[in-house]
Amino acid sequence: MKILISDSMSNKAVEILKATPGITVDVITNLKPEELKAKIKDYHGLVVRSATKATAEIIEAAENLKVIGRAGTGVDNVDMNAATKKGIVVMNTPGGNTVTTAEHAVAMMMALSRKIPQATASMKRGEWEKKKFEGTEVTGKTLGILGVGNIGSVVASRALGLRMNVIAYDPFISTEAADKIGISLVTMDELFKKSDFISIHVPLTNETKNLVNAEAFQKMKKGVKIINCARGGIVSEKDLAEAIKAKIVSGAAFDVFEKEPPAADNPLLQLDEVILTPHLGASTFEAQENVAIAIAEQIADYLTTGTIRNAVNVPSIPAELLVSLGAYISLGEKLGSFQGQILQGGIEEITVEYSGEVVSYDVAPITIACIKGLLDKVLDTYVNFVNAPFVAKERGIKVVEVKSSRPTDFASSITIKVRTKDAENIVEGALFGKKEPRIVRIDKFFLDAVPEGYLLLLQNEDKPGVIGNVGTLLAANNVNIARLHLGRQSTGGEAVSVWSVDTPLSKGLIEKVLKLPHMISAHVIEL
Ligand code: NAD
Ligand code: MLT
Repeated sequence: MKILISDSMSNKAVEILKATPGITVDVITNLKPEELKAKIKDYHGLVVRSATKATAEIIEAAENLKVIGRAGTGVDNVDMNAATKKGIVVMNTPGGNTVTTAEHAVAMMMALSRKIPQATASMKRGEWEKKKFEGTEVTGKTLGILGVGNIGSVVASRALGLRMNVIAYDPFISTEAADKIGISLVTMDELFKKSDFISIHVPLTNETKNLVNAEAFQKMKKGVKIINCARGGIVSEKDLAEAIKAKIVSGAAFDVFEKEPPAADNPLLQLDEVILTPHLGASTFEAQENVAIAIAEQIADYLTTGTIRNAVNVPSIPAELLVSLGAYISLGEKLGSFQGQILQGGIEEITVEYSGEVVSYDVAPITIACIKGLLDKVLDTYVNFVNAPFVAKERGIKVVEVKSSRPTDFASSITIKVRTKDAENIVEGALFGKKEPRIVRIDKFFLDAVPEGYLLLLQNEDKPGVIGNVGTLLAANNVNIARLHLGRQSTGGEAVSVWSVDTPLSKGLIEKVLKLPHMISAHVIEL
């Protein structure tokens, strides 16, 4: 496996990856987009910070790429749709630079309120301007935090230590979580109205782009100070410059910009009220070591063992949960694959129904395994755990996940119902004993089949001699039968049988099986 590290980062990443058997690493930074596009096809892993832009065009050219690792938090420099569609896992290192970035935001707030950078520049010009640099205290002032995730909550705790009154807007956290941090949740308009300082800690998304714009500045308290150590583009730079000129905003501290580095004519560079750092939020020795170690270990684990941690486009399963969920994930994939190999006609809807103990888990990874198993056998497209939901959606296949309270004969069971234009196919599975997977139902037939290896699924009229005829035919063609599982609805009605065989069955042999008396259908399945 070849890994490309395309942005500068702590050497710890190289050391960890180089020490992993089977992995080689190249560090090539400052690549132009066309250079990266030409090189990327040789690599299985790409490690970036924020300088490399993993665009759709680059991802398209990445023939062998399995994982993109972001040594940091924000993943807005990776085209997530393109990566997901191609089955590439995108992972980041949340938490690794949280404290460092929060400290930077607090440092920016203090420097802004006491005009430290402006005073430093003045002194270096040989001046001594005490009056000009009179500042404001932060004690007793209101800090409004937009986004109280990892970084926002550390900023809140530090600000509370500075005796500030902290309010926040974050529609995705609960009042209990805010109470725990010791802050009050308010609406965004209230935050704009009440805050003396506003610090931004939301990710850059379609919803947050230009969130703080001319309209927002109009709602703010006169003299407010704005700190942005999250992402350029969340605050409109043009509108901010106007709000400063209109004396609505008395100062701003920016670490991140719409374009990095900003163009020389960027209005923020011209205003004395604005203090700036060149995207230094995460730049401490400690944070850089944390994120480099974390991303290298995550990538090495994924490429060598398949363990996914901190992925942003596929559910990550903590190791302790994997112990309980692993067998269900494998069962789900087998059931899906079984369905995929017997299906006739286009799929319209897939329902995955869970019953019994399994409902107490977050079943999303099992559902993905079912879809992956199913679509992988039906489509030409390469389907894996990352792109399975995307591929289903792209093809207009509705996926429904149901946790049922329906009583079942098993401790837990998973049922996949696939609706096509003309029919509904049902396959149910369960775990027996020490988590041994079994198929326990195929449509209306109940049975107990081991979903493993080469299987021959037969449907026939329940008449004497059918099983004997099939056995004789297989034996005559030198096919050894490992196991046979039978199921029927009623005596003399229809019956199914699942034959586990040691070798694949040829098309010619299946045709012969189909010609045997009382045979209705025959499918060959490989699991
Ligand atoms: P996080 O995911 O833990 O927190 C983000 C918070 O924003 C979440 O609580 C989320 O609910 C909230 N949020 C999302 N959309 C929102 C909206 N529309 N309105 C209000 N709240 C919203 O992320 P984090 O680790 O705290 O990092 C936040 C951002 O900081 C990152 O996305 C990254 O862009 C940036 N960052 C910058 C630097 C730097 O060097 N300057 C370093 C690290 C992170
Ligand atoms: C991040 O999102 O982690 C930051 O932008 C830090 C970095 O510069 O990588």
